Order: sequence, then C-alpha cells, then structure tokens
Amino acid sequence: MSDFDRLLDEKAAEAEKIVKSFLPLEEGYQKTVIEAMNYSVLAGGKRIRPVLMMEMFRIFSGKSEEIIAPFMAAMEMIHTYSLVHDDLPALDNDEYRRGRKTTHVVYGPGMATIAGDGLLNYAFETAIKVFNCKEELPLYDGEFSDRRAVALKILATKAGIYGMIGGQCADIEAEGKACATEDELIFIHENKTAALLESSMMIGALLAGADSATLKEIEQAARKIGVAFQIQDDVLDVTGDEAELGKPVGSDEKNEKTTYVTLHGIEESKREVERLSDEAIGILSEFEGADTFLIPLVKWMITRNK
Ligand code: IPE
Ligand code: IPE
Ligand code: MG
Ligand code: MG
Ligand code: MG
Repeated sequence: MSDFDRLLDEKAAEAEKIVKSFLPLEEGYQKTVIEAMNYSVLAGGKRIRPVLMMEMFRIFSGKSEEIIAPFMAAMEMIHTYSLVHDDLPALDNDEYRRGRKTTHVVYGPGMATIAGDGLLNYAFETAIKVFNCKEELPLYDGEFSDRRAVALKILATKAGIYGMIGGQCADIEAEGKACATEDELIFIHENKTAALLESSMMIGALLAGADSATLKEIEQAARKIGVAFQIQDDVLDVTGDEAELGKPVGSDEKNEKTTYVTLHGIEESKREVERLSDEAIGILSEFEGADTFLIPLVKWMITRNK
C-alpha cells in the first residue's frame, strides 16, 4: 500500500465517521424511510466530496471540526440522494450500487423516492446545525457577512436546478438522442457531476476563511475536476469491472446515454480526462499545502478503477 493509499483510507474513514454521526435514529412511524436513508448512506462509497471539503478546509487553515462536520455530512447526504434517485426504474433503472442492491430494489420505488427526498431535506437540517457552533468565523467579503449563510447558499444552489438537478434534466433529455451536441454534453457534466464537487471544495475553503476571488479559482478548478471525474465514470461504464465499481457496467449503453465516450471514443476520453485534471492541478498548485494530499487525490480520481 502506498503512502497516498494509506492517507486516502484514513481521510475517508474520518469522513465516514463524521457522516455516520449525523444520521437520524431509526425510530417512530417514519422508521422505514429512515432505514432506507441510512441503508443508502451506509452502503459505503468513496466519500470523495466530504474528503475534498475537509482537505480544502485544512489547506485554508480551518480550525474547528465543529464548523465543517455538518457540511461534510450534508454533502454526502445530497450526493447519496442523487444516486438513489438516479438508480430508480424511471431514471437509469440500475439494481446495484456501492456493492449492494439499490435502495428501490430493497425498499421499493415509492420508499426509495421518499428516502431520497428525506436525505435531501435532512442534509439541510444537518447543515444548519453549524449555527450551534460557538466559534467566531472571520466575516466574508461578499454579499453576506456570515460565512455559514454563504455556505448554505452554495450548498443549495449547486444541488438544484442551476446545478445537479439541472444536469440530470439535460441527461434524461439527451437519452436516445444520437445528435446530442458537445455543448449539451458539457452542460450535463458540469451540472450533474461538477456542481457538487464545486460545492464541496468551495464550502471547505469558505468556512476556513478564503476570500471571494480565491473561491472563484477553486470553483474553476473543481469544475474541471468534476467534468474529468464524469468522463472517467463514463469510461469505467464501458471498461470497468462490476465487482470493483460496485455498480453495473453498460448502464449508459442500456439507456442510450450520450457520453464523452459515445461522442469521442475511449482513447480521446482518457486524454481529455488528463488534460482537464492537469489544468485543475495548475490552479490548485498555487495553494500552499496542496501537494501533500489534494493534488495526489485529484490524480487518483482520474486514474481510479472504482
Ligand atoms: C457517482 O459518484 C456518480 C457520479 C457523479 C459519477 P461517485 O463515483 O463519487 O460514487 P460513490 O459515492 O463513490 O458511490
Ligand atoms: C449520475 O451520473 C450523476 C448523478 C447526479 C447521480 P451517472 O448516471 O453516470 O452515475 P452512475 O454511473 O449511475 O453512478
Ligand atoms: Mg444517470
Ligand atoms: Mg446512473
Ligand atoms: Mg455513470
């Protein structure tokens, strides 16, 4: 095991512990929906978004875990909800996720739908716990003075119709459309995938004290990482190994998805992934401390097999 692998395992385990600590108790007449929510979150997953958030918080000298932890958990809840809904019979209709049966296979599509809704809502119930934190944060130089409010705004916007949901909309509409354009594809990738990575990295830096100009740079880098990450996901949908991925290969072909691979082929897709991540690394390398873990992580994200 390389030093990087060990570090990644440690950081993912730390994120996992934080996410778990915010999950709701399975009790009351709403027990089943909570079980379905927790089943989806606890299935595992790489935890890349909370790990990235925490790393940005560290790089910008964030101090108290109390400030970043609610947002790390909230982000993983939003991401997990997006997967639960993405797998539904009405969307990608996939039966395997994170190495387990998908939520709708275990709990039925109705319960899986509201488990997704539950996770999205609970993400905000979780994030607002940051207001219980007593530590004073430096004021933000943007529209709001309280950084926690700005973080909530980013969390909400990047997950919504001007972010992830917008991307999923265009993704559904491009199904079966042989002539989906490069512009549409970029819109899909930037929104369905990059938006949540932008949100994760920006919130980490923002809550640590980064200024608005720096956040813009982070957003740009994260967008490139997100598009590269989705192209790699599309490549793995063709070349990956189901057992290692923990989800089916060939899902995109089954659903006649337009992907970077259908438009440009595997080899060019791999080159594009490298080009985008090199550009992102160029931006991130300005930040002191990025070479310890952040840059190796970005490199791993694009060479990953799972
Ligand atoms: C899967 O995301 C969906 C995409 C945006 C490509 P991840 O590859 O981060 O999935 P998990 O969280 O590790 O299961
Ligand atoms: C989904 O993209 C991204 C989401 C917003 C959930 P995919 O449909 O390619 O993700 P996987 O391959 O099912 O994880
Ligand atoms: Mg999909
Ligand atoms: Mg899918
Ligand atoms: Mg995919």
